[in-house]
Formats: sequence, structure tokens, C-alpha cells
Amino acid sequence: MSKLWGGRFTKETNKLVEEFTASISFDQKLAKDDIAGSLAHVQMLGECGIIPVEDAEKIKDGLLAIQKMVHANEVEFLVEDEDIHMNIEKLLIEKIGPVGGKLHTGRSRNDQVATDMHLYLRTKTTELIKLIDDVQEALVEQAKEHVQTLIPGYTHLQRAQPVSFAHHLMAYFWMFERDKERLIESLKRVNWLPLGSGALAGTTFPINRERVAELLGFETVYPNSMDAVSDRDFILEFLSIGSIIMTHISRFSEELVIWSSQEFQFVELDDSFCTGSSIMPQKKNPDVPELLRGKTGRTYGNLIGLLTVLKGLPLAYNKDLQEDKEGMFDTVETLEGSLKLLAPMIETMTVKKDVMRKAINNDFSNATDIADYLVTKGLPFREAHEVIGKIVLYSIQSNKFLLDLSFEEYQEFSPLFEEDIYEVLAPEHVVAVRNSFGGTAPEQVEKQIQLAEGKLKR
Ligand code: ARG
Repeated sequence: MSKLWGGRFTKETNKLVEEFTASISFDQKLAKDDIAGSLAHVQMLGECGIIPVEDAEKIKDGLLAIQKMVHANEVEFLVEDEDIHMNIEKLLIEKIGPVGGKLHTGRSRNDQVATDMHLYLRTKTTELIKLIDDVQEALVEQAKEHVQTLIPGYTHLQRAQPVSFAHHLMAYFWMFERDKERLIESLKRVNWLPLGSGALAGTTFPINRERVAELLGFETVYPNSMDAVSDRDFILEFLSIGSIIMTHISRFSEELVIWSSQEFQFVELDDSFCTGSSIMPQKKNPDVPELLRGKTGRTYGNLIGLLTVLKGLPLAYNKDLQEDKEGMFDTVETLEGSLKLLAPMIETMTVKKDVMRKAINNDFSNATDIADYLVTKGLPFREAHEVIGKIVLYSIQSNKFLLDLSFEEYQEFSPLFEEDIYEVLAPEHVVAVRNSFGGTAPEQVEKQIQLAEGKLKR
């Protein structure tokens, strides 16, 4: 059998053209969705009397048989048949005879491919939401162990104020929570059905698009056939959300790389998540977080790629749109791979409390608290800031930290200091008094974790 569209042609397609224009090497990933779309379409064709019910049944049986073959990996897809749509249609006709040719009544590959992509993204988005859940659970589990564990909090990567390690971890929980929310919201738009738009202008057959939407579980149908076959904003949205998720993963990965360095040693990643060096036997490299950080770039590329494909396209379908697929698959697979690794890596990492604690004892991250102390004793904040600046400078010059200064030394800087200054400067105290909602005080972090657990149960 030659090309499904061969009628108008007098010559064979150039081999190079065939290879260049074919999408089957990658769009075979849509096989399941393509068949699902066809099953709903043919059911509707039968119900609306557009084709005889017996024919619809034969086509359905044929499609189900092909579905089984696809699952069992028994189908050999052919470049000559260009894409997943024509490969499956050709298989169908081979299997059940010319009646299979009735499947394409009232539809075009343009509304078909758009439908496949919607179905694919719906499944993947739903799966990704679950994978994010797993990462969030891992974060909460670690956080619960470390509400009282203190770590330097940084701004400008300079020690700023001590924080609960749980608080630091939970910051990522909320980033992923918003990512999940974005994915869930995007489903609203993924759930628009393009099928029934024909090539661009609709169809002459008395189809029932609502019925197809119902069968496929779509919430609504695209009200404009040209829009339906030519826009890919639902994929752009997915690629943007995917890029944001990878940005969050990348930032966290960067912290893991820093924390597991010899200089920090705040955490140790499990051996099963690291690799060695072929030349330096002492090394244990954080390859996984490095690669997570590195893979973020390709998801940005996929987004920019599709934005660029779309920006100059006249309505309606153009072959350029075939370029929407590989980037989308790549972002989906990058996210799947990354999220699947992230959860167990967080679960298995060792948190080195003692090293974190030592770091806190050896810095000036409690300086803000002496300023606040003097303010409560009546000194204007600006003046207090000036006094503390001098104390810090003096301490640095005399190789001491704030808790090492004697009471007499404090008194020299201000008579407002009293013996309770040492309590105020204790890191536990510094953390505990940041008890505003969303702050790092253990009491607040506990609340935060409870809130988070409530979100996960939903
Ligand atoms: N393989 C094509 C794609 O992915 C399917 C739609 C083809 N439509 C067409 N009119 N050539 O975009």
C-alpha cells in the first residue's frame, strides 16, 4: 500500500524528504493517546449515524487489537508512513480491511495531533503532580527531624542569621507546592478538546464534539476550529511550569553541592547517589545534584524553542508545529527523571548537625540580636547599629566572637548592657525569638510542617 495521501501525486517522495518530514521516530510516544482519541471519535461517528454502527464496532476492535500490540511492543513503525497517525491508520486497514479507512471521516491529522498532545500532557501532568508530592514528603520527613537543628542562614552567601534547618528545607516545600498548583491549574486548559475542528474550518459531517469530549474526559471543546488546530499555548504553559520546577530543583541542587563540599560539610549525600573519580581516589562527587542543575538548561531551551516556533506562524496548521513534540517529551522526561531521584536523595542524605552547630558558634550571625537588645533598652536602632558595628570590629580584631566577650568589654561599648546579654546571644534564643508567622522559631516551623502535612493529605 502506498501513501495514504498518495492520490494526487505522480512521483514517489524523495527518500531524504521522507526522512526529514517524518515524525514517527519521536511521535510514536503518542501511540496510546492516538488510539484513545480514535476510539472516542469512531464511537461518536457510529452514534451519530455518520458511519454504520457495525463498521464503528469493527474499527474499535481493530484499534483495541493494535493497542495491545503497541503495549506488547510488537508494532514496527515505518518512516514511510510518516507519523503516528498514519502508521496506526495503515495498521488498522491492514488488519480489518478497507472499512478501517472510515475512521478518518470528519477529522484531520491537524485536530487529531492536537488532541493527542492534550491527552498526553494530561496524563503526564497528573503523574508529575504525584512525583512532586513524593519530593515534598521527603522534605517534610527530613524537616521533622531537624526542627531544632540550627544552620547558618545566608544572604549574599554571607552568614546572616541562624535558622532552623527544617525551615530552610521547608522553603523548598512551598516552592514545589506552588509548582503543583500551577500544574493543577494548567489542567483546566489542557482539558479543552480540539478534535472535531477538521483541518482548520470544521467539518461537513454532523459530528457531536461534546460527546467526544465526554468520552475522553475533556471539560470543554475549543470553540474555534482555527485556534484549536494551530495554537500550542497549552504546551508553552507546560514548558514554562516545567522550567520553573527545574529552577527550583536546580537551586536546591546547588545547595546540596555546596553543603556537601569539604568546605561546608553540612550534609553528606548517600554513597548510592554519588560517584567517584577515575583518577583521584579520595573523591566522592555529587553528580546527581550537579546533573539536576545542569539539566535545567535544556528545559529552558525547550520553552524558548517552542516560543520561537510559534511567534511568526500564520494561522492555521503549519508543518513547523511538528517541532512542538521533541521539546515537550524532553521536558517531561527530564522532570520525571529529576523528581524521581530528588525524593530518595533527600531521604537518604545525612545531616551533620554538629558541623552546622560549630559553624553557628563561629560567626556573627547573632549581631542583629544585640542591636535589637539595645533598642529594647531604649537606644534608637541607628545608634544601636553603630555600637554593634564597633563591637563586631573589635571582636574581629581581638579574634573573638560575640559570646566570647566579657561583660566588662560589653559595658565599655554601652552601659545599657546587662548580664542577660549572653542569653540573648545564644543561637537557640536567636532562632526562638523569630516567632512571627512564617518565621524560623521552632514553634512556627512546627506549625508550618503541620500546614504542609495538611496539604499533602488533600
Ligand atoms: N506529524 C504531524 C505533526 O506532528 C501531524 C499533523 C500533520 N498534518 C499535516 N497537515 N501535515 O504536526
